[in-house]
Amino acid sequence: MEAWWRNSIGYIIYPASFKDSNGDGYGDLGGIVEKLDYLRELGVDLLWICPIFKTPMHDSGYDVSDYYHVDPRFGTDEDLSKLLHEAHLRGIRVLLDLTMNHTSDLHPWFMKAKADINSKEAGYYIIKKGRWADGKLLPPNNWGSFFSTSAWERMPGTDDSFYLHVFSPAMPDTNWENPELRNEYFKIARHYVEMGVDGFRLDAISHLAKDPSYADSPLPAGKEGYVLDPDRFSNRPEILSYLREFREKGVDENTLLVGEFGGSLQPGEARLYSDRGRGPVNLVFNFDTVWNNGAYGSIDKRDDEIRTDVISLKNNFMRWYPNAATSDMPLYWCNHDHPRVLSQYGSVEYRSESAKMLFTTLLFLYGTPFIHYGDEIGMSNVTYSKIEDFLFDDANRDSLKELRAAGYDDETILRFWRRANRINARTPMQWNRHENAGFSHAKPWVKVNDNYREGVNVQEEMEDPYSILNYFQYAISFRKSATYNDIVNNGRLEIVDYNHPDVFAYLHRGSSTIMCISNFRPYQVYFTFNYELADIVLHNYDGVLLSNHVFTLRPFECYLLKIR
Ligand code: GLC
Repeated sequence: MEAWWRNSIGYIIYPASFKDSNGDGYGDLGGIVEKLDYLRELGVDLLWICPIFKTPMHDSGYDVSDYYHVDPRFGTDEDLSKLLHEAHLRGIRVLLDLTMNHTSDLHPWFMKAKADINSKEAGYYIIKKGRWADGKLLPPNNWGSFFSTSAWERMPGTDDSFYLHVFSPAMPDTNWENPELRNEYFKIARHYVEMGVDGFRLDAISHLAKDPSYADSPLPAGKEGYVLDPDRFSNRPEILSYLREFREKGVDENTLLVGEFGGSLQPGEARLYSDRGRGPVNLVFNFDTVWNNGAYGSIDKRDDEIRTDVISLKNNFMRWYPNAATSDMPLYWCNHDHPRVLSQYGSVEYRSESAKMLFTTLLFLYGTPFIHYGDEIGMSNVTYSKIEDFLFDDANRDSLKELRAAGYDDETILRFWRRANRINARTPMQWNRHENAGFSHAKPWVKVNDNYREGVNVQEEMEDPYSILNYFQYAISFRKSATYNDIVNNGRLEIVDYNHPDVFAYLHRGSSTIMCISNFRPYQVYFTFNYELADIVLHNYDGVLLSNHVFTLRPFECYLLKIR
């Protein structure tokens, strides 16, 4: 039988920002339940809910202190059961976000490890002796963390040991070489599968195994003595056997496993993980198609230097496409760790045109699409004017220190963050034009994007037949129909005019042939069209400008066509 997720439309919910049901300014599970009908109407039938387990919220719930209970900010365990029940009644499946690469430092395992270095729990973490140099105790090696610090922190209660944390010091890495630790996670997964959860998004899974030699990175360390070299702890071969064991002992074949694999994973390696019937995970997320405009790490660039490289974008989708023959694939523009796609590849000046264009381009490529909450109404990056507004994410506090120390002034940091920071994708969902965009009656934990007053909200878009929201719903209904789903999943995809620098166009041939033509520029471009047009399925403008086999494409204009 075909795997169910091949026919699903996914939707990413960052729960703190989706809907507050109890008036504390914080989104919660009750809020998601309230909006299930909205999601069903939209056509979504698979939710990936970012972490909801007990957490001190140092890294928005990716720092778990108790895997068996829902954090009170999000509700209760009963609320989770209710959410699963209500979602299933509406034909919506639910994935939970499971972080196994690290726990919070307040997890009882780590507390026990701190209290007794010889405890069983100390063996759940990666604890190594430091090095002495000139009478000074240095970390075991020069590895830096993703969160702008050394990857090692002194292990309390010891004279000379450190624990590893590839993210924040408040998130000690777990030791997957230890079978007892692995078993703990299998048990957690089984617990939630029994509760009715349909799958897991496996957070930071590419870091589960580390270079066992724990030798220094060959990259030059900074003046503090460390350097971020993800190769020391990314995509190592041991992960495959860990995940196979997870599949065997933790979850059945019908449970969807979505793995977050970082950027360096290559398509060939990914097939080991995700080939049907062979690989332990079902959908591999890499981020090859996320930053194709030079915005990543772009603090030194002016805004006008950020430009979508359409050819590299096509390349980055197509280099993964061969995998679709043997693996199921996800499709996405961004998630809670990236800027909003509308601001990355689209434009707020052409909000409606570019939001529709981006969605159409993605939807008919290949694989299971995931919408990041709010993309369906054209939510865009924040316009915050104060550094403080960004500090709701602790990771930004560390990064701020680092950037200031490197000599950047606040104005430069602000410009950079408004362009590339992950808080852009974490602001409250904009439900209507009332106070706090209808997200909460209380002051939201993070500032709402002001554009909810300019029509970027669900209620007003529902009333407008030409809105982004209605377009999404209509496009999804096509994508889900048996014919289009079959073309997308089993057809043959080819890019048309690969070297066109502005237009992303492709043909998808199945029982019939469809063609998508998308202008990625805020200005008019031309596209040669040598096909026989049968029908226009989706279009984000009025009127067709086609003569002598040349389309004139207006800013962000996009067509989905049927070809004879
Ligand atoms: C993943 C999450 C990110 C988090 C990190 C550490 O990359 O998506 O939000 O900060 O893991 O858990």
